[in-house]
Amino acid sequence: MDNMKIQFLLVIIFFLFVVPASSSARDIAILLRVKSGHLGDPNGLLANWNESAPNAPCSWTGISCDRKTGQVVAIEFASFGISGRFPADFCRISTLQKLNLGDNSFGDSISPDSWSLCSHLHFLNISLNFFVGQLPEFIAQFDNLTVLDVNSNNFSGEIPASLVRLPKLQQLNIASNLLNGSIPEFLTNLTELTRLEIGSNPYKPSPLPSSIGRLSKLQVLFFRYANLVGEIPDSIRDLKSIQNFDAAMNNLTGRIPESLGELKTIQQIELFGNRFSGELPDIFSGLGSLFMFDVSENNLTGKIPESLARLHLISLNLNDNQLEGKIPESLALNPNLCQFKIFNNRFSGTLPQNLGFSDLDEFDVSGNNLEGSLPPNLCSRKKLQTLNLFNNKFNGPIPESYGECNSLAHVRIHNNQFSSELPAGFWGLARYTFLELRNNNFQGSIPASISTARGLTQLLISGNRFSGELPAEICKLEEVVIMNISKNQLSGELPSCITRLKTLQNLDLSENRITGQIPKSVSSWNDLTELNLANNQLTGEIPGELGTLPVLTYLDLAGNLLSGKIPSELSKLKLNKFNVSNNRLEGKVPLWLDDNYFVSGLRGNPGLCSLDLKPLPECPKPKSVSLYVVCILSAFAFILVGSLVCVLLKASKLLPIRSKRKSVWRITAFQRVGFTERDVLAALTDDNLIGAGGSGRVFRVKLKNGQMVAVKKLWAAKRVRESEEVFRSEVETLGRVRHGNIVKLLYTGIGDDFRILVYEYMENGSLGDVLHGEKIGFLLDWPRRFAIAVGAAQGLAYLHHDCVPAIVHRDVKSNNILLDEDFRPKVADFGLAKAMQQDTEGSDQAMSHVAGSYGYIAPEYAYTLKINEKSDVYSFGVVLLELIIGKRPNDSSFGENKDIVKWVLEGAPSSKKGEGIGHITDGSSILDLNQLVDQRMNPSSSNYTEIKNVFDVALLCTSALPINRPSMRRVVELLKDSSFPRPK
Ligand SMILES: *[C@@H]1O[C@H](CO)[C@@H](O)[C@H](O)[C@H]1NC(C)=O
Ligand SMILES: *[C@@H]1O[C@H](CO)[C@@H](O)[C@H](O)[C@H]1NC(C)=O
Repeated sequence: MDNMKIQFLLVIIFFLFVVPASSSARDIAILLRVKSGHLGDPNGLLANWNESAPNAPCSWTGISCDRKTGQVVAIEFASFGISGRFPADFCRISTLQKLNLGDNSFGDSISPDSWSLCSHLHFLNISLNFFVGQLPEFIAQFDNLTVLDVNSNNFSGEIPASLVRLPKLQQLNIASNLLNGSIPEFLTNLTELTRLEIGSNPYKPSPLPSSIGRLSKLQVLFFRYANLVGEIPDSIRDLKSIQNFDAAMNNLTGRIPESLGELKTIQQIELFGNRFSGELPDIFSGLGSLFMFDVSENNLTGKIPESLARLHLISLNLNDNQLEGKIPESLALNPNLCQFKIFNNRFSGTLPQNLGFSDLDEFDVSGNNLEGSLPPNLCSRKKLQTLNLFNNKFNGPIPESYGECNSLAHVRIHNNQFSSELPAGFWGLARYTFLELRNNNFQGSIPASISTARGLTQLLISGNRFSGELPAEICKLEEVVIMNISKNQLSGELPSCITRLKTLQNLDLSENRITGQIPKSVSSWNDLTELNLANNQLTGEIPGELGTLPVLTYLDLAGNLLSGKIPSELSKLKLNKFNVSNNRLEGKVPLWLDDNYFVSGLRGNPGLCSLDLKPLPECPKPKSVSLYVVCILSAFAFILVGSLVCVLLKASKLLPIRSKRKSVWRITAFQRVGFTERDVLAALTDDNLIGAGGSGRVFRVKLKNGQMVAVKKLWAAKRVRESEEVFRSEVETLGRVRHGNIVKLLYTGIGDDFRILVYEYMENGSLGDVLHGEKIGFLLDWPRRFAIAVGAAQGLAYLHHDCVPAIVHRDVKSNNILLDEDFRPKVADFGLAKAMQQDTEGSDQAMSHVAGSYGYIAPEYAYTLKINEKSDVYSFGVVLLELIIGKRPNDSSFGENKDIVKWVLEGAPSSKKGEGIGHITDGSSILDLNQLVDQRMNPSSSNYTEIKNVFDVALLCTSALPINRPSMRRVVELLKDSSFPRPK
C-alpha cells in the first residue's frame, strides 16, 4: 500500500514538475521564437512575454494553460492589433487546442503546409484579418477541429473540397470573403454542423445544396448575399434543429415552400430580397417559436394567411410585395409585436382598431390602399417611434391619444385625407426629428407648443389648410434643416427671429398670405441654399443683405408686392434660380442679370427696364458726354477686332457655318484651327468610327497637320429636332466654358443635313471603356483612379459654381468622362446640359422627360423632373462607386432592379444591423469595404484609407435626399482631404 502511495505521489510530482518543466521550456522557446520572428505588436500587449516571469508562459498575456497539467492549451489574441503572417509555428505546441487570432491585422496567404501544422486544433479563428489567396487546403486530417472561423478576410477562389476532412466540424464560418467559386454540394457531408455561415461572398450563381436537409443538427444557416439561384430544396424539411434560416438577398425563385411549416424549432425566417412569387402558404400554425418573419421585397401575391396572425411575432415584414386583401383582425391581438411593416403592397380596408396593445416601436403601412381612421391605441405602451402611413387614403382626425405619444420620433403621414386640427400635444413631441404632414386637409394654427420639439430637423407640412400666424416659438427649433409650410393659409408677418435658425438649408413659405417685409438680418443663415417666399403679400424692398448668404442658390420672391430696385449686392450670389417676377420692382435690370437666362424671373414688373432684354421695356437712353466717349471708343475697338477676325477667317478659309445664328458663330470664332469643313467631312469614314451613342456617331480624325481630333456627327433626318437641341446645348455650354477638366470644343459645322462638332481628341477614350471594356491588359490602379475622381470633380465644380448661370450637366457618367494621354479626366458630352433658369416656366416644369442614363439618375429626378445641380452630385457619386467597385452601376450581379447604390446600401455588411443572428456586424468598416473594392487594381493596404474616404464621399453624394448631398465644391475638398488620413 505504502509503496503504491509513494509511486502515486511520484507520478503526481513527475506530472507537476518534471513534464511541465521540460514541455514549458520548449513551449516558451516556440512562443518567443514566433513573437520575435514576425509578430508586430503595436499596443505592446505581448510585452510581458518574458522567460523569467513567474509561471511562464501561463502568466503571459494571451496564453492559457490547462489547470491540471499546466500545459499551453490556448492562444487568444482577439482584437490585440497584432500583425504578421499566419503564425503556424504556434501549432508546434502539441498541446495547443485553441488558436484565436480574430480581429487583428494578420495578412498574406496561408500555405497548406503551415495550415496542416494546426491539424490537432479544436478551435481555429482567424476572422477579421487581411488574409488573401485561396482558402488553404486541409491536406492533413483535422480530426478534432470543431470550430473554424475565417470570416471577413479576403480569401478568394473555391471553397476547398478538402473541407470534408473535418469530420467533427460543428461551426463553419467563411462569410464575408471574396470566394468566387460555386457553393459545393459536399458541404452537406459535414453532418455535425450546428452553424453554417457562408454568406456575403461573390459566388458563381449556385443553388442551395439540394441535400441541405442532411444537416439535421444545423441551428443557424446564413446564406445571405450568396448569389443563390433556383428554388429552396424540399429537403429543408429535415432541418430538425434549425432556428435561424437566412437566405435573404439572393435570386431565389419559386414559391415560399410549404415545408418551412415543418420546422418546429424555427425562430427567425429571413427571405427578403429574393424573387419568390405566388401566395404566402399557410404554414404558420405549428411555428410557435417564430418571432421574426421577413419576406419583404419579393413578388408575393394574395393575402396574409390567418395563421400568421396568431403567432407571437416580434417583427413582421412583408413590404414590397403585391399582397392584397384586408389585414387579419387577429394580428392586432399579438402581444409581442414590435415591428409591423407591410408597406408597398395593395392592402385595402381599414386597420384593425385593436392594434397597439403591444410594445410596437415601428409601424409602417405606407404605400397601400388603406382607408378609415387610425387605431386609437396604437401608442398605448408609449414605445412607438416610427409611424409611416403615407400614400394611403386614411381620413378623419389624428386620435387625441397620439398627442401623448412621447416616444414618437419619425412621423410621415403625408398624402392621405386626414382632416381637423391636430391634437394639441402632437405638435411638440419632444423626440421628434422628422414630421411630415404634407398634402392632407389639416387645419387650425401652428401652436406655440411646437417649440418643445427641439430636435426636429425636417418640418414638412405644406399643402394643408393651416392658418393664423407663424408663432415666434418656431425659432426655437434650433436644429431644423428643412422647413416647408408652403401652400397653406398662413397670414400675418414673418417672425423676425426666423433668421436666427442657423442650420436652416431650405425655407419654403410660398403660397400663403404672409405680409410685412423680408427680414434683413440674415447673417446666421450660413447654410441656407433655398429661400422661397413666392406668392405671398410681402411688401417693402428686397434686402441687399440676401446677397451675403454664402450658399444661397435658389431665390424665389415672385408674386408679392415688393418694390424698389433689385439690389446690386445680389450679384454675389451663384444662383440657379432667381425669380422676382410679378412684383412692383423698378429701375434698370442690373448688368449681371442682363441675360436671357434670367428673363422669365424678371417679368411682370412694369417698372423694370433693360437695355436689350426683349420682353422688358427699354430703359431711357443715357445722355452724358462721358458715355458718348465710351461708346465711340467701344465702337472703334469693335471695328478693329472685327476686321482682325475677318482677316484670320479668310486666311484659314474658315467659313463653315451657313446659318447666321449668333451663338454658333461665337463659339467657332474663339478657337484657331488649321482645317476646313471639307477636310473633316472627308475623314468621316467607317474606318475612323470610334463610337456611336444616342445622339450621333464619333470619329477619330487625323488632320493633315498631324493633329488628332474627335468629330461628333449628329444624327440627322428623323431625329433632327432632338439632335438640333443636343447640338445647341453642346455649343452653348462648351462655348462658355474653359476649364482643364472639361473637354475642349474646337469647331462646329452646320450643313443642311448634318451637324458636326470637333473636339480635342482624348487618347484613352472614356473612363467607362477603360474600367469596363475589353482591354483587359490595361487596368487603372488606385492612385490613377483617385486622380481621375478629383479631376472630374473639379470640372463639375467649375460648371456648378463658377459659371453664371450655373450649368447642370445632367448626364454625368463614366462614359462621359474622357481620359487624355496622361489619363487626365475631362468632362464631356454636354448634349443634355442645361443652364439653370433657361426655361420660362421655372424649374419645376423645366424638363419634359427624365434625362440621363440608367443607374446614374438621382432618385428625385424620376418624380419631380426638377433640375438641380444636386442631381449631378448624385450621378458623380455613382461614378465614384464605379471607380471603387469596378462595375457598371447596373451590373447584373447587383440583382434585378438593383443599381450600384442600392446594392452598396443593402450589401455593405454593416448596413442592416442587428438583423439575422448570423450576420456579421462587428467588422470594421475597412473590412466591409474589402469586399466591395475592385480587386483588379490590386490595392495596397496603404490605399485603403483613401479608398474608404472616397467611399464615404460617394455615399454622401448618393444620399437619397438632395439636401443631404454636398455641393460639388465641397466634394472636391472632401476628396482632396482623402489623401491624408483624417484625425479620429
Ligand atoms: C483528438 O483528440 C483526442 C482526444 O482529445 C486525442 O486523443 C487525439 O490524439 C486528437 N487527434 C489529433 C489528430 O490531434
Ligand atoms: C459525401 O457523402 C456522400 C454520401 O455519404 C458520399 O457519397 C460522397 O462521396 C461524399 N462527398 C465527399 C466529397 O466526400
